[in-house]
Amino acid sequence: MKPVHITLIILAASLCRGDQSTSDPPRWAMAGVADTSGASKAVSASREEAVILTPPPPRAPRINGAKIFGVRPGSPFLFTIPATGDRPMVFAVENLPAGLKMDAQTGQISGVVSSRGEYTVTFKASNALGRAERKFKIVCGDTLALTPHMGWNSWYVWENHVTDKIMREAADAMVASGMINHGYMYVNIDDCWSVKPGSKDPSLGGELRDAQGKVNSNRRFPDMKALTDYIHSKGLKAGIYTSPGPLTCAGHVGAYGHEIQDAERFAEWGFDFLKYDWCSYGKIAKNKSRGELEKPYRLIGDILKKQPRDIVLNLCQYGMGSVWEWGQEVGGHSWRTAGDLGLSFEGIATALFRDGFDVYSRNELHKFGGPGAWNDPDYLLLGYLSNWKGATAPTPLTPNEQYTHVSLWCLLAAPLIFSGDITRLDAFTLSLLTNDEVIEVDQDPLGKPGRRAAKEDNLEVWAKEMEDGSKAVGLFNRGEVEARVTVKWPDLGLRGKQTVRDLWRQKDLGTFEGQFQTSVPRHGVVLVKMAALAH
Ligand code: GLA
Repeated sequence: MKPVHITLIILAASLCRGDQSTSDPPRWAMAGVADTSGASKAVSASREEAVILTPPPPRAPRINGAKIFGVRPGSPFLFTIPATGDRPMVFAVENLPAGLKMDAQTGQISGVVSSRGEYTVTFKASNALGRAERKFKIVCGDTLALTPHMGWNSWYVWENHVTDKIMREAADAMVASGMINHGYMYVNIDDCWSVKPGSKDPSLGGELRDAQGKVNSNRRFPDMKALTDYIHSKGLKAGIYTSPGPLTCAGHVGAYGHEIQDAERFAEWGFDFLKYDWCSYGKIAKNKSRGELEKPYRLIGDILKKQPRDIVLNLCQYGMGSVWEWGQEVGGHSWRTAGDLGLSFEGIATALFRDGFDVYSRNELHKFGGPGAWNDPDYLLLGYLSNWKGATAPTPLTPNEQYTHVSLWCLLAAPLIFSGDITRLDAFTLSLLTNDEVIEVDQDPLGKPGRRAAKEDNLEVWAKEMEDGSKAVGLFNRGEVEARVTVKWPDLGLRGKQTVRDLWRQKDLGTFEGQFQTSVPRHGVVLVKMAALAH
């Protein structure tokens, strides 16, 4: 038999020298092994270092996050100007529409806009080191969620033991970690806040509904209104979850037969976001026809439109019946495109490559979605997650897979909802969540989801058109060994000289013509922005 020579490829070697790194928590990866016969396989061996590419934000003020925000006339308005830089910082805003006011210390804008229209305002922020300003558009009309939602959800870390205290701590952490300064806004309770019929755990008990038939929270959530008041006092928004069936996925009380009462209750409690699952509705639906699949969502969508506050509606029915074709029409602002990304802790990487890349490209999801309506491939599974065995553990994704995860979600214009432990953010995880140039790809006001522009074996190029005419481009390597990935201008519809900027490193790479080529590590990405060279 011919001997096979094996070369070990150390993946981290392709990451820039001089970048900061952290080993808290340690992340182990599979090293790629290539043999001289050209075949490659994975072995568990070498360590892939968690290298922080995101530069720290400047100490002088910088305004980040969405550049546009939708509100309905007469609804309570709440938006906090996301700005990085040293505190104390003083905020100002020019041309605020009538009915709104701003707190100069916190940058929280609140009030009510009663006249429909587009209002272009200027945010200003200053501190001892400098000042920044940026235009921002408030659109008072019927459309909410003009950019993908950004926030945190309790499910993948706290699953069925979420409490009022956990939610308050999450809101505190969104501020203390600085995530709020990058545009994160929603603090969302998932399943398990309502009563669980038949449970022996007294903390999950109580009356299912009040005398008017409105749903009650269980004893872990003694006062929902006080909880949303707390979240709002931080300049953040609050989200809740239920199912159109009699029971939620975890067996708690769902909304079936009480949709109006429950939606009214969510509005009275002060929620701004509703995730509407499918669980146990399968027994109610007559069949899986499109009409039956649409029914519960159309019902709740119509009810939510009648509430006196804006409630963003997230459809969670795992992509059934090509929900992307009708999710917006029934009143949804986003819809899950597939099953649970983290259903199996060990299988997250497999699901990421399947539900992110595969579901998306197979269904040509770039054709669907846009301002007010987003494809949702599920949460960002970073940091400490539930391992579904009663403990939390660092995400099983390798560092490069984590870069792939965030980069792909931004290119897809997916909601950026982190679902790891927000009170326990290591420096690497925080750096993945708070790179403003990467977030800008996701939050671009054009709202055009990216698409796969080229594919060759395990190498893929994804591109997203940006409002300023530039393109965000991800060069992905799904293979087991480091590889050179090439972007060719015709695949992107580009011509002439293009400037190329590495978005994770926030560094210009130079001017290129015809093509751009770079090395991409195993399961990794290089995310760039390409713009025509100004003459
Ligand atoms: C489903 C959803 C998850 C989560 C759980 C809660 O599985 O897809 O995101 O909400 O229900 O039980």
